[in-house]
Amino acid sequence: MSSAASNSNEPVIRCDSVYKVFGDNAKRMMQESNGVVDAARFQEAGCIVGVNNASFEVHQGELLIIMGLSGSGKSTLLRCISRLTRATAGKVFIEGEDIMAMNNKQLIQLRRSKMGMVFQSFALLPHKTVLENIAFPLQVKGVSTKESIQRASEMIDLVSLSGRENYFPRQLSGGQQQRVGIARSLAIEPDIWFLDEPFSALDPLIRKEMQDEFLRLQGVLSKTILFVTHDFDEALRLADRIAIMKDGIIEQLDTPANIVLNPATEYVRKFTEEVPREKVLKIESVMDDYNPEGAVSDLRVSKDAIIETVAEVVLNADKPVPVIDENGQIVGAVHASRVVKVLFGGRSQQSAGLPAELSSGAGS
Ligand SMILES: Nc1ncnc2c1ncn2[C@@H]1O[C@H](COP(=O)(O)OP(=O)(O)OP(=O)(O)O)[C@@H](O)[C@H]1O
Ligand SMILES: [Mg+2]
Repeated sequence: MSSAASNSNEPVIRCDSVYKVFGDNAKRMMQESNGVVDAARFQEAGCIVGVNNASFEVHQGELLIIMGLSGSGKSTLLRCISRLTRATAGKVFIEGEDIMAMNNKQLIQLRRSKMGMVFQSFALLPHKTVLENIAFPLQVKGVSTKESIQRASEMIDLVSLSGRENYFPRQLSGGQQQRVGIARSLAIEPDIWFLDEPFSALDPLIRKEMQDEFLRLQGVLSKTILFVTHDFDEALRLADRIAIMKDGIIEQLDTPANIVLNPATEYVRKFTEEVPREKVLKIESVMDDYNPEGAVSDLRVSKDAIIETVAEVVLNADKPVPVIDENGQIVGAVHASRVVKVLFGGRSQQSAGLPAELSSGAGS
């Protein structure tokens, strides 16, 4: 679908030592720093470090979640990659193209043809109706008015705003405005999608529905997505990988399981401390070798299933449950005791009142 498909190894997004420093002295401070940016020292000189030496790649179809406390640099990082703001140093490549080297015309073209954005502030046009807000970017792209309105109407259905087509933004709640923003961005089917806390203003039920819809769409459309959220449950539902930011620095960028199980820094460990392991661990990580001689259950579980989603099956089985790979081949067996250990073993190696053989096993 994307032109990156012609070279599937090329990342869709690549950041090479990207820095964003705010302040009049930013450039000079940056030049004198030799790449080692100490936020406190910069602050003394009147500079605020938004992003500090970010290097990573995102591949076609991947959904990267960016997390971190308020002020840690998440929005600034997105803005550098979409070049809504200019990085102070470093390089950003979109499908191999250096976006720092693009002129305004090329940038506008890139944003129009490839990028979609949903901002923290909804950024709707106040004098246009819901329908017009959603249809507008399509018209700008050259789609006919009739087709734009048709497509906008479909998007309105998708985000459950039917009946409000002719409302103005000020007549909508925050959550409804947010859904208009999502619909507007979806309508143009961007290849690369920047979503800055897109569901934050939604109540839990609609939020869950939007996540489900989002997962369904992602399954079909396979977009490349950078998604900022504060909500770990949301992150775990959606993420291929998660980046944790602190003071502009990406402390760790890794799979959800690695972030939780093998935190790279003390900060990440604290940040993920409360995340239940059964929400990130796959069955594969607790399975034992399959013994064809031994008695096993008739049930099967996938090696890629998240433990939480199949725990009940395994715990209710009276024998170990064979684990299968994507081809249906048995690659191991999972014992209820291993699942019990994940569910109740605690994160601190304490036995939580379990029999010794359950709490002292060689868990991963
Ligand atoms: N235009 C600006 N001028 C000066 N400083 C800025 C500017 N934009 C952001 N900053 C600073 O950069 C840092 C990172 O801000 P950013 O908006 O990226 O944080 P964030 O992680 O998105 O936070 P939140 O979760 O609250 O949205 C903050 O210290 C902020 O004050
Ligand atoms: Mg932000």
